[in-house]
Amino acid sequence: MKTIVIKNYGGPEVLQVTEMPIPIITDPSQVLVKVRATSVNPLDYQVRRGDYASFFELPIITGHDIAGDIIAVGEAVKKWQPGDKVYYSPRFGSSGSYAAYHLTEESSLSRMPDNISYEEAAAVPLIGGTVWEMLVVRAQLKKGDTILILGGAGGVGTLAIQIAKSLGAFVYTTGQSVLHEKLQNLGADVVIDHHQKNWIEEIQVHTKGKGVDVIIDTVGGNTLSDSPLALADYGTVVTLVDIAQPQNLIHAWEKNATYHFVFTRQSRDELYHITQLIETGKVKPVIDSIYPIEEIKNAHQRIEDSKRDRPLFGKIVLTL
Ligand SMILES: NC(=O)c1ccc[n+]([C@@H]2O[C@H](COP(=O)([O-])OP(=O)(O)OC[C@H]3O[C@@H](n4cnc5c(N)ncnc54)[C@H](OP(=O)(O)O)[C@@H]3O)[C@@H](O)[C@H]2O)c1
Repeated sequence: MKTIVIKNYGGPEVLQVTEMPIPIITDPSQVLVKVRATSVNPLDYQVRRGDYASFFELPIITGHDIAGDIIAVGEAVKKWQPGDKVYYSPRFGSSGSYAAYHLTEESSLSRMPDNISYEEAAAVPLIGGTVWEMLVVRAQLKKGDTILILGGAGGVGTLAIQIAKSLGAFVYTTGQSVLHEKLQNLGADVVIDHHQKNWIEEIQVHTKGKGVDVIIDTVGGNTLSDSPLALADYGTVVTLVDIAQPQNLIHAWEKNATYHFVFTRQSRDELYHITQLIETGKVKPVIDSIYPIEEIKNAHQRIEDSKRDRPLFGKIVLTL
């Protein structure tokens, strides 16, 4: 089967198209899935670079999203059968989705929404669970809340805007001017161009100094230090990004702020809520571009290159 293998850590050039044997079911609870589409997450290039070297042994098959068809099931599997369409995120640290077939435990599977394509479904599992965890479990976002989503045009951001809107929040986000209309069509009420304007000052003006109830950080840098300057009293900050540099939280204390740090664990329950939102038409996966898996190096270059000539909008999907 066609597989993308990483034998050494490094740049996109270490992603090698390789033929491997199709995996075989060896445990009664396993399921074999034909991967129809997968997607690219920053986590993939972080694994490729060696950021998570302590979790893996080379060679690695990375990739964290799968939409596909069940081909075969172990004898203890009763809920699923060959032909079922599923989507899921492989367990972090296990063999990933950059392969034509994937062997998994039945406990990881979710039924694919029936109103979207494999390509759209592959754009969802990792970020779907993540966004539900951030907005609902941690921030407990509710109707009438104000929220600022930093990084609105990214994979996480494009889904977070739609879900925040469906929960009844007033949504501020950051994104390049050329994407303003697209971000508003997703449900953003106010878009701040982070290349031209200071989001702290903009939020202060728009909220008349009150600040927003929730800030979602998908960009890192100084965001944890800066967020209290745009946060309402007793507001909540949720970050997805590791803290690569020291932060000063003195203003967080002045605001009685709550901080949440999210590192996604695959959760079928959380993905179930996203399936409901997709099937009721409240959320639609946003696809930036689609590449055949043989063009994996170009796909990684696109997500990593911060100086890309066309800004990223949504997820990069790979087809098999
Ligand atoms: N902890 C977890 O469990 C978890 C789960 C999923 C994702 N993540 C992390 O979350 C981050 C975002 O993921 P993603 O999939 O959304 O990435 P992505 O698709 O690559 O999107 C990144 C977005 O952030 C924007 N951006 C970059 N720097 C910015 C800045 N200084 N201010 C405002 N916007 C900025 C980019 O806009 P421009 O094009 O204008 O630069 C781009 O639209 C990544 O670091 C990823 O590793 C963590």
